[in-house]
Amino acid sequence: MRASAPGKIFLFGEHAVVYGKRALVTAINLRCFAEVRKRYDFRISSPLGITGLDFEKHPYISYAIKRFLEVRKISGADVQVESQIPIASGLGSSAAVTVAVLKALDAEYEANLSNEDIYELARQVELDVQGIASGTDPFISTYGGCWLIPERKPITIPSLEFLVVDSGKKSITGEMVKRVAELKEKFPGVVGEIMDAIDEISQAAIATIPQMKLNSKLNSKLDSISSLMFINQNLLRAIGVSIPEIDEIVDQLNSMGVASKLTGAGGGGCVIGIGDVESMKRAKEKFKSAFIVKPEKEGARIEEE
Ligand code: MEV
Repeated sequence: MRASAPGKIFLFGEHAVVYGKRALVTAINLRCFAEVRKRYDFRISSPLGITGLDFEKHPYISYAIKRFLEVRKISGADVQVESQIPIASGLGSSAAVTVAVLKALDAEYEANLSNEDIYELARQVELDVQGIASGTDPFISTYGGCWLIPERKPITIPSLEFLVVDSGKKSITGEMVKRVAELKEKFPGVVGEIMDAIDEISQAAIATIPQMKLNSKLNSKLDSISSLMFINQNLLRAIGVSIPEIDEIVDQLNSMGVASKLTGAGGGGCVIGIGDVESMKRAKEKFKSAFIVKPEKEGARIEEE
């Protein structure tokens, strides 16, 4: 069986969501594909290489198999993975690979798991690998769409386009989440207030986003989103998850009229930007590696039998 699951972008609220604050997150039109066939032992192949169960080289896939074994006893599986989502870029490739593998295992071995079962297993895998996590990435990968988290309130967003610029540095989620946790432990009042402010940003954004027009010019809603992105980026910077390469990209995009912020755990990874059609076009020409992503409605799905 071949299954797939989408990546995601945090529009607002990364890190704060780990502390129960609100975040606005959408699935995107980039997917990870996993093919699972019955086999006598475990074999994993991905762009990272071919291994058996290997918690160093293929941590998310290996833990996904380990967690699946708790609900269905199998002696082996051939798991092949390919992805359109750049790795360690803040676009949810780890959750997408985990969910896609679980979905394909479920279908191949007829385990009859519901979406909620798949989400719960994927959430365990995230905790196995990262230690601390909010479960947002596996939730979005499983269900698709745009959501206010942790309420699980579906948000209708117009067919917007987001520019994505990679900082060229890898974003290691577990490390960044741990670093923020340490800062919060050291200065609970200060960091707590920052998390509360981010929570307010997500709340303010859901009042605005559904009415945004398709990146049109002189759109007052776009103006509000720009301000919120600017504040959110600077709060993320304040808690130490931005890096000079990201700040530079954000400054340049802002000066071109494209509102931007880092997305995901930071420490590297991608910047997202949104602006009117002309500014987006100019920004895309300036950053050669930039690409466009769109919100995606569909979550994990079977591609073929
Ligand atoms: C990572 O994509 C988002 C973080 O908020 C971590 C998490 O929610 O588990 C940084």
